[in-house]
Amino acid sequence: PVLVPKKVKDEEEEEDVGPGKVKLTVFFGTQTGTAEGFAKALAEEIKARYEKAVVKVMDLLKKETLAFFLVATYGDGEPTDNAARFYKWFTEGKEREPWLQQLTYGVFGLGNRQYEHFNKIGKVIDEQLSEQGAKRLIPLGLGDDDQCIEDDFTAWREQLWPELDLILRGQDDADSVSTPYTAAIPEYRVMTYDPATTSYDDNDACVSGGDASYDIHHPCRVNVAVQKELHTPESDRSCIHLEFDLSGTGIVYETGDHVGVFAENCDETVEEAAKLLGQSLNLLFSIHSDKGDGTSLGGSLPPPFPGPCTLRTALARYADLLNPPRKASLIALAAHASETSEAERLKFLSSPQGKDEYAHWILGSQRSLLEVMAEFPSSKPPLGVFFAAVAPRLQPRYYSISSSPRFAPSRVHVTCAVVYGPSPTGRIHKGVCSTWMKNAIPLESSSDCNKAPIFIRTSNFKLPADPSTPIIMVGPGTGLAPFRGFLQERLALKREGAQLGPAVLFFGCRNRGMDFIYENELKNFVDQGVISELIVAFSREGPQKEYVQHKMMEKAAQVWSLISQEGYIYVCGDAKGMARDVHHTLHTIIQQQENVDSSKAEAMVKKLQMDGRYLRDVW
Ligand code: 2AM
Repeated sequence: PVLVPKKVKDEEEEEDVGPGKVKLTVFFGTQTGTAEGFAKALAEEIKARYEKAVVKVMDLLKKETLAFFLVATYGDGEPTDNAARFYKWFTEGKEREPWLQQLTYGVFGLGNRQYEHFNKIGKVIDEQLSEQGAKRLIPLGLGDDDQCIEDDFTAWREQLWPELDLILRGQDDADSVSTPYTAAIPEYRVMTYDPATTSYDDNDACVSGGDASYDIHHPCRVNVAVQKELHTPESDRSCIHLEFDLSGTGIVYETGDHVGVFAENCDETVEEAAKLLGQSLNLLFSIHSDKGDGTSLGGSLPPPFPGPCTLRTALARYADLLNPPRKASLIALAAHASETSEAERLKFLSSPQGKDEYAHWILGSQRSLLEVMAEFPSSKPPLGVFFAAVAPRLQPRYYSISSSPRFAPSRVHVTCAVVYGPSPTGRIHKGVCSTWMKNAIPLESSSDCNKAPIFIRTSNFKLPADPSTPIIMVGPGTGLAPFRGFLQERLALKREGAQLGPAVLFFGCRNRGMDFIYENELKNFVDQGVISELIVAFSREGPQKEYVQHKMMEKAAQVWSLISQEGYIYVCGDAKGMARDVHHTLHTIIQQQENVDSSKAEAMVKKLQMDGRYLRDVW
């Protein structure tokens, strides 16, 4: 139990909250910042409502007596990176922790119903805490990001107050009615500078101290070494092969890991945003979070960027401008709209009465923050409000690394499908990171190449320790990425004299002449004996769609025979469609090949998963 400090006593003394006060912890497991934002908002509200409460927001669990858990589930039912250690301790720790019996808790999960393991982490934590003897204060909240997760959070929070009233209001004031609470709009303090007399370096921003311990908070700024299009000109879509240059950075990775990339908004987006804000792109400014001055809530916000930078840089690197705005953003926009009618409409959209309108007009039509701002031109929030409350922080995008360090020790390869297409309002939606990659200039073509802050995220998606173990890989489209790394690794192992087991690759694309990415490399892997069988499903060549799962069905006996020989099966790609269908296909194959009923087959699939022989890297 690594998360429970050994010197609890000292810790408790240190954390003495004072007479009559009650200590309360809000724990968050965040990947994109939503859970963290909710945790901070909850903490602010608790502080405002209860004088007695001393609230801490953390991503570590100590020996608490009153705690709330705001935890997201992502990928294939996995915890967020910052909660992974906690979750492991929790689910794998065999010993019962006696202190958990003193704990009163509530859990709110953040997930998406479109995914198979909807809110798995929240559900497990809620269940485990209860099983270990902790007292559940309110029922588990299941936030669904497919709808309006802010509403789910509000509903959960409303259930909390009557319960907290009982704990945090004394006998004397037990009958008093709590005053209605309106959250203050967070704001940073802004300072502007004269560019002629201030020295600044935009490229310094976001770089680690050079100690090679890079992570999401300390990414390393690296060159784009190679960039090329993988589709042929006949294709109406685009897929980019990009190589980041690691030389001299100390960054290391393993085959199957992910890379987090901080891309920039494109010029067109940045210029549009500055126009809507009524500010010059050359404005040089810095923002500061004031602590405890009573007037600003900036103190509870993480600073989005260090040092002074131009508005152009700030908008390009730090502001999420293309996602639909959250209700909290609309409230902040409303507060700075000079036209009353605009302020009213913005307030309505963020109110319980405007729920359907928000779902339809904002979420349903995928209206970006910039599109919304364009509809309310009188709202010109100051930069301190814009960066604190209107525009969420631009998040890194994760890619399955498509190389192996044995083959490319000083490079990280990425295989990225470019997101480009009309949104329901007719706007052409361009994905932030994929568009950046499409436009990136590599060192190969210019010394003035593009750079990006990156960091490695480790994964469990790994080859079997013994190279002679049979493997089946299923990866259509860019789902091929980690398998390219696997194959490079197998080639390196073979060259070192290892005996390779069978490896079957199911790949899928639309059309041989358009999007059969890395075709020559794959054929070379076959020739080298690194792939024993390459099976490709072309979905748009014949009269009928052919997908990887159809090919798996055709090869059912072989698939099951390889798995039965202690083999591994790997699936990578789209979670909602492909991975779900492949999962069902695997189930069907087992049912038929083993001649068992559906529930027995399901148990066998589960067992494969539990044994780590059925691994998925899905998004
Ligand atoms: P489609 O675009 O013709 O529908 C890579 O994107 C390949 O995956 C494409 O050939 C695509 O086919 C296919 N694909 C789309 N949905 C899928 C699904 N649910 N299962 C398997 N493959 C799918």
